[in-house]
Parts: sequence; structure tokens; C-alpha cells
Amino acid sequence: MATTQPTYRPLRLAVLISGAGSTLANLIERIRDGRLRGAEIVLVISSRGAVRGVEIARQAGLPVKIVRPIDFADEQAFSEAITTAVDQAEAHLVLMAGFMRYWRLPPRWQGRVLNIHPALLPRFGGRGMYGQHVHAAVLAAGERESGCTVHLVDLQYDHGPIVAQRRVPVLPGDTPDTLAERVQAAERELYPEVVQTVVERGLEWLGAK
Ligand code: GRF
Repeated sequence: MATTQPTYRPLRLAVLISGAGSTLANLIERIRDGRLRGAEIVLVISSRGAVRGVEIARQAGLPVKIVRPIDFADEQAFSEAITTAVDQAEAHLVLMAGFMRYWRLPPRWQGRVLNIHPALLPRFGGRGMYGQHVHAAVLAAGERESGCTVHLVDLQYDHGPIVAQRRVPVLPGDTPDTLAERVQAAERELYPEVVQTVVERGLEWLGAK
């Protein structure tokens, strides 16, 4: 007798990168080893051609699209190219992963695009606050803790509703590098956990944020 299989529809992810691709590599690894279940990466978009992240994506056999601002007349045309690519890939959710460019996302994508930022937003965010600049600013401010934030992307840098945060201590003698390492370890846990929650609870869960 035929048994009824549950309908299984993996969450289709598009990942936007610009550089080293460590966030992407972590997602690939977790999908591969089953720690992140029910999600697949259907497209990687890079705003730069010759970066390690592109190599990582290609080695993993993922479709890669290079969409460089320099190839477009203006920010609007660049943004439209990103939108077309994620639409055509039929992505359900877009993950910014070290993506360094402004994507003017259309209203239909708002609520379905996430970013991870290496600090506890709303502090230490905004234009120019990326990479080591963030950790240097946290140390200069004498903070006793830092962490990472997953947030929905809207039309302002590092601004949309916060979905999840993870805290890490700032330790005596920390340098931007040692703090970055601790924050990145937290990022490697938090981002896949958020994606797993979306798999389990649906995109509506993000809408409630
Ligand atoms: C991470 O620190 C993340 O917070 C920020 O980009 C950094 C990772 O870059 N959004 P990459 O994934 O190694 O390119």
C-alpha cells in the first residue's frame, strides 16, 4: 500500500557576498553535515569577481552570479540586477553574508532579506561600520560586551528590525582581532540558527519581527 509522504519543500536561499566568504562557507558546511536542515543555497551573488567567496561557492558546486556595481549605470540599475537574479533563482530568503554594497530592495523583498552584523545593533552600525572598524570602535568605547545581530534588511544600512542577537564578553587585553574572532564564533552559530528557525516556523516568523 502506498504511504503518503509529507510534502517537503526546502527553503531556497540566495547568499550575497563581497569578500572572504567565511559566512557562506559556514552555511555550506552546516547544510552539508546536516546541522542546518531543510534549506538549500540556490544562488550566490558576489559584488566582486576575484574574491575567495566566489571560489568557495564554485568549489561547492553552487551557481554563482557576479553582479558588479561598475558594470551598471547607477545604483538603481545595479539594484535591479540583484533583484532580477534573486527573483529568477526563485529564492525564498536572501542572506547577506559580508555583502558590502547597497541593494535598493523592492517592497516585495522587504521582510525576506537578512543581514548579520558583527556588533550589538543599534549600536556600532551604519555606513563605514564594517569589519575591524566595528571592533575597534567597540574597544575605543570601553564596552564590556559585544556580539552579533541578525536583522531584516530595509533601505538603511544596519537599520531593519532585529531578529536575533548573541552576546560575547569583551576581555581585558582584547585587540580588534581577538574580539573579531570571538564575535565570528558567535556569528557562525547564530546565523544558521536563525535560518533553521525560518525553516521550522516559516517566513511569517520574520514578518512578526
Ligand atoms: C562578518 O563579520 C559579518 O558580520 C559581516 O561580514 C563578515 C564576514 O565576511 N557581515 P565574509 O563572510 O567572510 O565575507
